[in-house]
Amino acid sequence: MNTLDAILTRRSIRSFTPEPIPNEIMQTIIQAAAAAPSGGNAQNWCFISICDPQRIQALRALSPGIIGNPAAVIVLCIDKDRVTDTKEGDLAQMVLIDLGAAMQNILLSAHALGYGGCAIGSYHKQAVARFLKLPENLDIRLLIVLGKPKHIPKCPPKRALKEIYHQEQYRE
Ligand SMILES: Cc1cc2nc3c(=O)[nH]c(=O)nc-3n(C[C@H](O)[C@H](O)[C@H](O)COP(=O)(O)O)c2cc1C
Repeated sequence: MNTLDAILTRRSIRSFTPEPIPNEIMQTIIQAAAAAPSGGNAQNWCFISICDPQRIQALRALSPGIIGNPAAVIVLCIDKDRVTDTKEGDLAQMVLIDLGAAMQNILLSAHALGYGGCAIGSYHKQAVARFLKLPENLDIRLLIVLGKPKHIPKCPPKRALKEIYHQEQYRE
């Protein structure tokens, strides 16, 4: 699968077969996350993977956004200790953009490897942090569920390019 095919055929996957994700696959996916571009190459991120089925069930109970039974969950955090200049909020915003790039690399690499995933923004942050024994400096910003797709949904409606894309200038 080439890069453009992966981008254009990726879907958010919310139902999974019971097949586990082998550790080598998870390592490759995490490597893809860590290869994402990062403002100032700061890489102020941290990724935690959970593959133990019992722990995933416990995590589901803390995360209303998780539908279905994923084989793995990756938790994406910002390392606040590394984000030094938040005066104007610029760096803080850049870190979120970085995390978005890492999210997309995770979803695309999983898809290219025959797996599927979905970003999850709905979870009980403090409860998940406690569950993962996170230190204070790690701030959870996103969960990603992963597994072998049981069902690949149709592409949901996307806004027309003519509505969101302008050439040279905004107005005619
Ligand atoms: C930051 C973010 C948070 C999301 N949170 C959830 C969520 O909590 N539950 C869920 O089912 N999908 C979630 N999604 C997936 C979106 O619903 C999905 O990307 C969107 O419907 C477009 O579908 P597609 O990814 O197949 O193109 C989230 C996506 C993003 C980028």
